[in-house]
Amino acid sequence: MSRAVFLPGATIGVLGGGQLGRMLALEARRMGYRCLVLDAAADAPAAQVADGCIVAPLDDVEAARELARRSDVVTFEWENADVDALRKLEDIVPLRPGPGVLEIAQHRLLEKDTARKIGLPTAEYRAVRSREDLRRAVDEIGAPSVLKTVRGGYDGRGQARIRTRADIEGAFRELGGGEVELILEEWIRFRLEISVICARAPGGEIRTYPISENVHRAGILESTVAPARIPDAVATEARRMGEAFAEEIELVGLLAVEMFVGEDDSLRVNEIAPRPHNSGHYTWEACSVSQFEQHIRAVCGLPLGAPELLRPAAMINLLGDEVGTGLGRGGVVGALRQPSVALHLYGKGEARPGRKMGHLTALADTPGAALEAARAAKDALLRG
Ligand SMILES: Nc1ncnc2c1ncn2[C@@H]1O[C@H](COP(=O)(O)OP(=O)(O)OP(=O)(O)O)[C@@H](O)[C@H]1O
Ligand SMILES: [Mg+2]
Repeated sequence: MSRAVFLPGATIGVLGGGQLGRMLALEARRMGYRCLVLDAAADAPAAQVADGCIVAPLDDVEAARELARRSDVVTFEWENADVDALRKLEDIVPLRPGPGVLEIAQHRLLEKDTARKIGLPTAEYRAVRSREDLRRAVDEIGAPSVLKTVRGGYDGRGQARIRTRADIEGAFRELGGGEVELILEEWIRFRLEISVICARAPGGEIRTYPISENVHRAGILESTVAPARIPDAVATEARRMGEAFAEEIELVGLLAVEMFVGEDDSLRVNEIAPRPHNSGHYTWEACSVSQFEQHIRAVCGLPLGAPELLRPAAMINLLGDEVGTGLGRGGVVGALRQPSVALHLYGKGEARPGRKMGHLTALADTPGAALEAARAAKDALLRG
């Protein structure tokens, strides 16, 4: 693996121009890097703050080649790029993380196979290519369970619950069964959801953020608090599991590993994302080095920063159906009147239901107090 170091002044290419790319670009520019984004929209959140943007669909191979030619190193805020096309780019520019990592992250079966291979527990699962596969899988795994597309799902999209066998046909059709690969997963009755975010440098050094605790609504992350309110032994095991995954895939960059914590405190890996993650946004205010800076440091081969938590924190998302595109003066002033609350807006021109428009972070003496402060700030913001 290349150990090349990229110093400030170098150009970091970012595939994808959403809010993750935006926050990466802001941190990269603060450190003196140049940042070139590839996105389909000229006014994409990241394009607004980058040095430049190549405007083309994310799967446009020629545009990706241009990004590679004009960058010193390329990274991703979007993990669904065509892996064969990426492998060809490696002749032009270093890709960090590498295509092999994206290949696993974009495929729920490979993700779970990888976890199992290194002894990390997951929900029971079966590959589903046909109706017969699905019927057999429901026989074996039982209901409730959840059918998902193997590729391309995010924010709970591409999923259908199977509560009884009567749901089989509808779920299969809804997700395009037969045409696209599906996976049936056992439904986990979890006590909590957590994520482990760690960074791994080209030389193998790993640094892990405190475990965060996540609440999803309708498949979309609603809030995160850190540190997670779990026993120390569970946090230690979660951290070990996240780091083992990062090592197994020879990650360079940042990895978020989402996990379920069962009623008995057992841990199961849900999915991974080899990039900054929504559940790590709190690190911007609450840690000495944000997840975005840490990702850049890893990708550029610089020493990693300390991921220590300076103060308990909570992050709460602002969705399109909640905030629209414009916030009133009363709402903004009311939200920011809360002590230690920070407002992030991503500059999106259109507010669709469930679309992530921004977030609020609050710091306090305990995770619970931080969550209360973040909720109060959001209430004030929405009251207008
Ligand atoms: N097997 C399961 N058992 C219980 N809950 C589940 C299961 N799979 C998914 N969920 C719930 O749905 C949420 C979203 O699912 P998942 O993380 O698989 O999908 P996603 O759409 O890729 O989400 P993300 O926005 O994190 O990319 C989970 O965080 C969890 O709350
Ligand atoms: Mg998820």
